[in-house]
Amino acid sequence: MRLRSMLAARFPDIDPARLPGGFDRVGDIAVVSIVPELEPLAAAIGAVILDALPAVRVVARRGGQYGGTFRTRPLHIVAGERRLTTAHRENGVFLHLDLAQTYFSVRLAHERARIAALVRPGERVAVLCSGVGPYPLVIGRHSRAREVIGIEINPAAHALALRNLAANRAIRSVRFLAGDAGRMLPDLGHRFNRVLVALPHGGESLLLPAIDGLRPGGTLHFYDMQAKRCHLAALAKIEAACRQAGRGWRSTGVTVCGHCGPALHRLCLEATIEPEA
Ligand SMILES: C[S@@+](CC[C@H](N)C(=O)[O-])C[C@H]1O[C@@H](n2cnc3c(N)ncnc32)[C@H](O)[C@@H]1O
Repeated sequence: MRLRSMLAARFPDIDPARLPGGFDRVGDIAVVSIVPELEPLAAAIGAVILDALPAVRVVARRGGQYGGTFRTRPLHIVAGERRLTTAHRENGVFLHLDLAQTYFSVRLAHERARIAALVRPGERVAVLCSGVGPYPLVIGRHSRAREVIGIEINPAAHALALRNLAANRAIRSVRFLAGDAGRMLPDLGHRFNRVLVALPHGGESLLLPAIDGLRPGGTLHFYDMQAKRCHLAALAKIEAACRQAGRGWRSTGVTVCGHCGPALHRLCLEATIEPEA
């Protein structure tokens, strides 16, 4: 039975449209949004989810949006065990997660698989803002890239990325570095076939090093948040960075790969970066 129907049966006096219609399943944690007027019922809503799904051991409600440099999101445990750590499987990759200290979204699984499928044999790939490592590990698992480097500034996320690399022993092409990607990428040389800037809020600050780090003809993937059907503003950020770097560029695609509220889209803009303008 669907969550909303189960909750409607348990809370017959509440307008079903106000009840949660679903949740994100992250390992054995269910992450649910509960409207403010129903917060006093959060523990009871959590208990319904625990009863319906024995594999779920923790129910947490979202307490706000992602924020801060580390892009973490406030979560409040409403039922089950008192932890926000879990283990999760995605695209054939095993991930240890800590939802309190690090960013992770199950909703990007399809996007990670899409990017991995674009990587050609022998490519060198850099993922700026790699978090606990899902993009590099999914690319490493599903492509024949020569090298995949993930760079992450949050020490807790980097520590989990190292743990996740150890947990996926068959993946040999991936390496994780800790620090500010904008400072570290230039030290790695101008040698990447593909660079991802996986920071949709403020990622433009990393565009210049990302473009500098690409070989002529290399591919940039730039994630950005933009109002629905307004990708030109995001392309303008690539244009500005390429002009500053003295590089030519050609837009090769725009993919809508999520949203933040009804009007704001998460876009992946793809561009080929040429030797010079
Ligand atoms: C939206 S999250 C994406 C994480 C990961 N790519 C994923 O899909 O789970 C952005 C990440 O960028 C990291 N970050 C922010 N600024 C950074 C910087 N200058 N250099 C490296 N990482 C950075 C944050 O700590 C956060 O983990």
